[in-house]
Amino acid sequence: MVKDRIFSGMQPSGRFHLGNYMGALENWVKLQHDYECIFSIVDLHSLTSSYDDTSKLQENIQEMALDWLSAGLDPEKNIIFIQSHVKEHAELSLLLGMSTPLSWLERVPTYKDKLQQLGSQGKDINTYGFLGYPVLMAADIMLYKATAVPVGEDQSAHLELTREMVRRFNNLYKTDLFPEPHAVFSKSKVLPGIDGRKMSKSYGNTIPFGAGPKEMQDRINMMITDPKRIKKTDKGNPDVCIVFAFHKAFNESEVANIERLCRAGEIGCVQCKKCLGEKMNSLLADIHTRREDLKNKPGYIKEVLDYGAKRAQAIATANMTEIKKAMNIY
Ligand code: TRP
Repeated sequence: MVKDRIFSGMQPSGRFHLGNYMGALENWVKLQHDYECIFSIVDLHSLTSSYDDTSKLQENIQEMALDWLSAGLDPEKNIIFIQSHVKEHAELSLLLGMSTPLSWLERVPTYKDKLQQLGSQGKDINTYGFLGYPVLMAADIMLYKATAVPVGEDQSAHLELTREMVRRFNNLYKTDLFPEPHAVFSKSKVLPGIDGRKMSKSYGNTIPFGAGPKEMQDRINMMITDPKRIKKTDKGNPDVCIVFAFHKAFNESEVANIERLCRAGEIGCVQCKKCLGEKMNSLLADIHTRREDLKNKPGYIKEVLDYGAKRAQAIATANMTEIKKAMNIY
């Protein structure tokens, strides 16, 4: 059986946090063993909403590469590259844009939501580029004739649109060039932020991915616990405690015991936080060590990304020739 070819991307939009890791990257690291994978740092996508300030872009791309490699993505096994380094992404996006009905783009549920949300933060994304975000994403996937895309809930409407665009292209140009990519859903764990809201950079409630032992413990110490629990001997309610939510996500072997001790008032919050810190630090120790090590090797990261771009380019060039031929552009 032919292996599925996976394409996925992430926007380099600032320091990656543990929520991002648990939501997607952890899953990618698993997928790399079973699929042919192409992973892209989608810098062009980040321009669709951050075109007005690109001063941190290069730094963010570097950080993202560092995060991916330290998490364990293997640059030999997978193709890892920067989207803008393969110009065919832009070219295919333009070609697909010619036949994509405006109504398809306007009805993407995240479109109006995000427009409003960012608009209220004073950001004007009433742009051609932002509306075309899903077209660029479809181009990413179709350029490699990817057959599978790992997506979270938030991206499933975009993938559905890609599937529609595939059908439309194949119909219009009487070809079977593109396969319809299917979604690979993963059981991603949603982590709360340290204040109990969704973990998000804009709330300032994250735990940075690659945090060292001290930063990790400091962030854990700031987590909100059961507010009704004043004294150490008060009986606690783990259901409303953020520390407990993290024990559930990271400390499977001890979580039942911790719950019992908390409800009985036999473990204090300070001790419970210390126990979580130790557990998380030992789980993430390898990642942290690799990250620190790679930080001092910018030359190596550049090499990895150049090598990835070369491999991606070879596929893109061949496929683009076929695509343009189907459209009578050559
Ligand atoms: N839109 C995705 C996100 O913001 C990133 C992305 C760009 C992507 N191109 C893609 C994801 C292709 C999957 C496939 O998370």
